[in-house]
Amino acid sequence: MTMKLHHAHASPFARKVVACAIARGIDDRIELVPVNPHVSPEALLRHNPLSKVPCLVLEDGTAVYDSPVICEYLDSVGEANGLFPSSGTPRWVRISVMHALADGIMDAAVARRMRAGKPVDETRAAFLDRQKAAVARGLARLESDPPKGLADIGAIAVACALGYLDFRFADEPWRGAHPALAAWFTEVSKLPPMARTVPVG
Ligand code: BEZ
Repeated sequence: MTMKLHHAHASPFARKVVACAIARGIDDRIELVPVNPHVSPEALLRHNPLSKVPCLVLEDGTAVYDSPVICEYLDSVGEANGLFPSSGTPRWVRISVMHALADGIMDAAVARRMRAGKPVDETRAAFLDRQKAAVARGLARLESDPPKGLADIGAIAVACALGYLDFRFADEPWRGAHPALAAWFTEVSKLPPMARTVPVG
């Protein structure tokens, strides 16, 4: 079975999907289709009217989005252990909230990045400050209870969020104030799901 993943190389959400596929050993069943979601290309709109990546297109043409839905779908492909715990358990709550927190950090960081270099009026400045503060609070929360290993969706999402901060906000170092998170990230960055998906350029 070959699926097509519409993705943008720089998107941390797309990276999360590819990292999940690598973690589960099914990345060879996914063909990457690079698109620029910001210009609403017809090739993407045909599958996702929101013009957002990642968007997974199954062999029968069914489109699956957004990234949490795709990652959960991928858990049903192949034989490897799933990355999503059983619903309703204490572990499910911890991992799911960690996933949501990491996605929120990505949302806020991407929002800042998309407005970089644009004129900043008072309203926009307040918006950007709120995004920056959300990332700072998110990192503080993760530092108080960092992920363990890289065998669940929460940990993979946090690693992709931190990788995006390094990629797009390298001039805003976060490691010094978050030593536990930094130590964990150093270790998991060596593993194939992260090492094989580092954004460049
Ligand atoms: C970026 O260039 O940082 C980016 C591109 C697409 C989606 C998200 C982020």
